[in-house]
Amino acid sequence: MLNFKKNTVVTSTLLAVALTLGTAQAAEYKASDKEGPIKIVNLDELESQVAKSMDKGAFGYIRGGAEDELNLKKNTQHFDNKYIMPRVMQGIEISDIDLSTDFLGIKLKTPIIQAPMAAQGLAHKDGEIATAKGMAKAGSIFSLSTYGNKTIEEVAEVSGENPFFFQLYMSKNDAFNEFTLKRAKESGAKAIILTVDSPVGGYREDDIRNSFQFPLGFANLELFAKQNSDGSKTGKGAGISEIYAQAKQAFTPADIQYVKKLSGLPVIVKGIQSPEDADVVIKAGADAIWVSNHGGRQLDSGPASFDVLPSIAKVVNKRVPIVFDSGVRRGSHVFKALASGADVVAVGRPILYGLNLGGAEGVNSVIQQLNKELSINMMLGGAKNIEGVKATKLYTDKDFQ
Ligand code: LAC
Repeated sequence: MLNFKKNTVVTSTLLAVALTLGTAQAAEYKASDKEGPIKIVNLDELESQVAKSMDKGAFGYIRGGAEDELNLKKNTQHFDNKYIMPRVMQGIEISDIDLSTDFLGIKLKTPIIQAPMAAQGLAHKDGEIATAKGMAKAGSIFSLSTYGNKTIEEVAEVSGENPFFFQLYMSKNDAFNEFTLKRAKESGAKAIILTVDSPVGGYREDDIRNSFQFPLGFANLELFAKQNSDGSKTGKGAGISEIYAQAKQAFTPADIQYVKKLSGLPVIVKGIQSPEDADVVIKAGADAIWVSNHGGRQLDSGPASFDVLPSIAKVVNKRVPIVFDSGVRRGSHVFKALASGADVVAVGRPILYGLNLGGAEGVNSVIQQLNKELSINMMLGGAKNIEGVKATKLYTDKDFQ
């Protein structure tokens, strides 16, 4: 009897240890370790491939949009409301097609850059390091998010001569802003992307359904916390709303000057959807504006990002360059954005899907697929270079009535 009791105690202790270990193991996030170029028919199809293998909560966080996801869908659908006229007598050979361009004095092999995205360790074990390598291979720009899983220094090291930007979510704590911008400057970032469209997180239902919390820490937040612990959350075990709650909310034009002064770098203000805001931020000293509705993750009732681009470009009137993102899945979308006033076009989720399916090479495959489609559209639309694309008139149904 006594023996039995003893055994029970031993057994249950062992069981408890095993359960704890089991839980610890289950809690360890398993990211993709795939490496290599991926076969792509179109970027849309990547999403269902990734859905099959990625952790449900992580996939929901990456894929999801706000509320009914109307904005997410419209962002892509509304490119269809404009047409590229076929032109057949321009005397262009496919070998004449030239995708090279420049942005803020940086030479690029393609007008397609990477939109900053948080927590890329969800998509691949090497996270932002692999994305930075993939973008370098494509001859374009990688942008590191404040909420990335790698530090600015780690990204700088793999980027080498290749340009990279740093995206800033300003903190309510100025010490963090100062610490982080100083590191960005010293690491060689070529510009700061100041995101201003997320004073709170959009209402993202997948994250609520999945009770999603980040399984990995945000390296730049962790680095600050190590030296100046202010009790802030650093990613791991927190949801995106808790992270956003620590970020600055009440933006004013003075913040643009503040970031310019602290970093000594060009500041691109990201998250502009109205001509009025574009004018305000340019007058406040923005070196470029980034037209984006955060890929439909913020204000679900807002217009498609592509629909607001022409009126913003008109107000900007070439005072500063324009980056465009939200909804881009096709080379034709890139063409149409450039023809509507964008100088470069950024891509988000499809790059994370490429990262998940093939690491750095997978990222490069995504850019090459868009380059291929863009080249075909340029050939058939009679534009042999990016200047030609920008000068192309787009048509709507009204033009044919
Ligand atoms: C997001 C942020 C972090 O959309 O950019 O989740």
